[in-house]
Amino acid sequence: EKGGYEHFMLKEIFEQPRSIHDSMRGRLVAASNHLVLGGFLEFEKKFVKAKRIIIVACGTSWHAGLVAEYLIEDLARIPVEVEYASEFRYRNPIIKEGDIVIAISQSGETADTLAAIELAKSKGATIFGICNVVGSSIARASDAGAYTHAGPEIGVASTKAFTAQVTALTLLAMMIGSKRGTIEDSKLRQLMIELENIPAKVEKALELNDKIVEISEEFKDAPNCLYLGRGYNFPVALEGALKLKEISYIHAEGYPAAEMKHGPIALIDENMPVVVIATRDSSYEKIVSNIQEVKARKGRIIAIVTEGDQVIPAMAEYVIEVPETSEILTPLVSVIPLQLLSYHIAVMRGCNVDQPRNLAKSVTVE
Ligand code: M6R
Repeated sequence: EKGGYEHFMLKEIFEQPRSIHDSMRGRLVAASNHLVLGGFLEFEKKFVKAKRIIIVACGTSWHAGLVAEYLIEDLARIPVEVEYASEFRYRNPIIKEGDIVIAISQSGETADTLAAIELAKSKGATIFGICNVVGSSIARASDAGAYTHAGPEIGVASTKAFTAQVTALTLLAMMIGSKRGTIEDSKLRQLMIELENIPAKVEKALELNDKIVEISEEFKDAPNCLYLGRGYNFPVALEGALKLKEISYIHAEGYPAAEMKHGPIALIDENMPVVVIATRDSSYEKIVSNIQEVKARKGRIIAIVTEGDQVIPAMAEYVIEVPETSEILTPLVSVIPLQLLSYHIAVMRGCNVDQPRNLAKSVTVE
C-alpha cells in the first residue's frame, strides 16, 4: 500500500507530479484554450461581481489560502482576506451579502472550518469549497466547489493535498480573472501553458532528493530553524516551517524575509539554520539583501534558488536549485524540497513520520 516507499508521506511527496496533473485533468488544456472549473460556472456571476472574498481554513490548507490571496488579487483584482477558521468563527466577523467564502480543507471534516462555514452561511455568504475528500462534510455544506483530486492522503503531514489545493485555486483565480477581464489573453494563455508544465517541473524537483538527504544529515540535530520567503514564497516559508515542526519536533518559524529586521534577526547566530526561498522573481534583489543580512550574522544559509542562479551560491552554505516557472506558480515547485527536507530530518531523528505525536489526520475537535 505504500508502493515500495518507507512511509506514506514519502509516497505522497513523490506522487505530486501525478496528483497535480489530476487536479487539472479535464479542467485545463492549453492547446485548445480550454479552461473550465465546473463548480465555478454555477456561481460565475457572483464571482464576477464579488466585492470581497474571504478564505477560511486551518494549517496547511490555510497556507494554500494565503497563496490564493496573492493569486486572486493578482489575476482577478478582488480583495481577499485569509482567516484562520478558528478565529473567524469566534469573533463576530463582518460578512455582507455578495461576499464569497472559500473554504479549503483536505479532509473536509475539520471542525473549525465547518463551523466557520455555517456561520458565514447564516449571514448570507456564498460558500465555495475546495476539498479533497469527496462527499465530506465541508463539501456537502458548500454551495458549490471544486475537488482537488489528489487521491487519499494518509500521512498526517499534508503534502500532495497542498499542491493540489494550490493548483485548483490557481485555476479558480484564472477563471475569475478571465471572466472579469482582469487578465490579458496573452498572459492567460502563457499561464495555461506554464501550469501544464508544472508536473514535469515537480518531477525534476523530486530529483533533488539525494542532495536533500545530505543537507538533512547536516541539520538534523538543530534545535531551531528559520524559514524566510517573500511574495508568493512567503506562504511557502510558513508551510516549510510547519512541516518541520510537526514531524521532526524541531522548533521552526516561517517569516516574510523583510520582517526579519523587526525582531527575528536577533535569533541569528552561527548555530541557526535559515532556509531562504529565493527563486528569481520580482523580489529577488530584495531577498538577496536579506540573505546578506543573515550571512553577516553568521546564520547557516540553505537557499532554494532558480536553476542557474549565479549570485546566491556564492553566499549560501547549501543551495537547492529548482526549475524556473512563472512567479505565480512558484509555490508548486519551491515547496517540494521543503517537504523532502522535513521528511528526511524527521526520519533521521527517529520520529514517527506518518503519525506524529499529538496529531490526528483530521481535526474534528474545536
Ligand atoms: O483537512 P484539513 O485540510 O482541513 O486540515 C487542516 C489542518 O489540520 C492540516 O492541514 C494540518 O495542519 C496538517 N497536519 C499539516 O500538515
